[in-house]
Amino acid sequence: MRAARVHGYGAPDVVTIEEIPSPSPGEGQVRVRVRSASVNYPDVLMMEGRYQVSVPVPYVPGCEFSGVILETGPGVTGLAPGQPVTGMATHGAFAEEVVVDAWQLTPMPEGIDWNTAAAFGVTYTTAYHSLRTLAHVRPGEWVTVLGAAGGVGLATVDLARVMGARVLAAASGPERLEVCRERGATACVDYRHEDLKARMREITGAGTDVTVDPVGGDYAEQALRSTRPRGRFVVLGFASGEIPRIPLNLVLLKTISVMGFENRTVLEHFPEAPAHRADLLRMLATGQISPYIGGVFPLADTAEALKRVADRRAIGKIVIDIGTA
Ligand SMILES: NC(=O)c1ccc[n+]([C@@H]2O[C@H](COP(=O)([O-])OP(=O)(O)OC[C@H]3O[C@@H](n4cnc5c(N)ncnc54)[C@H](OP(=O)(O)O)[C@@H]3O)[C@@H](O)[C@H]2O)c1
Repeated sequence: MRAARVHGYGAPDVVTIEEIPSPSPGEGQVRVRVRSASVNYPDVLMMEGRYQVSVPVPYVPGCEFSGVILETGPGVTGLAPGQPVTGMATHGAFAEEVVVDAWQLTPMPEGIDWNTAAAFGVTYTTAYHSLRTLAHVRPGEWVTVLGAAGGVGLATVDLARVMGARVLAAASGPERLEVCRERGATACVDYRHEDLKARMREITGAGTDVTVDPVGGDYAEQALRSTRPRGRFVVLGFASGEIPRIPLNLVLLKTISVMGFENRTVLEHFPEAPAHRADLLRMLATGQISPYIGGVFPLADTAEALKRVADRRAIGKIVIDIGTA
């Protein structure tokens, strides 16, 4: 099969396309013919050797995909060859075939195309837990989303809109903010050219009720300073490359709750996660929510797809269309 491979940690240029043997499913595992996969920022971090989990080289990158089951290993029940599925893994998805544990797969919702199914799981699960499980967002509340034009960002904008919140989207540049507006943002701040803290205050009045932050760096403290008393601040990641060190007196003085969430360990910390996933899939199937796909690349151009995300040029999700064999 053809696969993208990383032989040494580094920038996306380290990715090569190679012919390698098909993987075989072991006990409790399933082999899937991948139709589409999507890029997430953690793929870039893993490739650079900067992710929480390090994978020994050589490895096939890619943690999210859709496709058709080719073969089930011993002990697998409830899944069968020919069945369309979506899946998440730590790596392995940027290839014609992937082997994962059966629990990592979800039957594909009817009426959803391959690219949409592959671009949905990671970002929407992250957005869902941020807004619903952690921040308990209520209709009418202000939700400020940093990095709002990215994958996690636009999923959070989309879901917050469905939950009846007022969304303040913060991102860089008019083109990126226009997409946020089209996707339901009530107000926008170009944090590259405007003072984020001051504009958040002007727009929300008393301060935002909730901040969702996948960016970190200087923007995090500015957003925290414009989060209202008894507001909630959700930490998702550090796309800026900088983990902020924030004076905790800001949290104390305004009784702000700061919460973190990591999708990789969601089943460990949130036993109710499968029910939430079903809720999300229902919203996807009924067209209430859908991922914004900002670019589609063939497998041969996987390095370009990863570069788009690494260089801060991606809007929404970048998809790798693996196609049929
Ligand atoms: N906690 C979790 O479970 C979870 C799950 C998935 C992802 N994440 C994390 O969430 C973050 C976003 O992931 P994603 O897949 O949505 O990535 P993405 O699509 O690349 O979005 C990241 C956004 O961050 C902004 N940004 C600000 N400074 C940046 C910089 N120096 N370099 C790159 N981007 C910068 C960019 O928007 P502007 O250019 O408009 O500022 C970009 O749209 C990452 O840190 C990722 O590790 C966390």
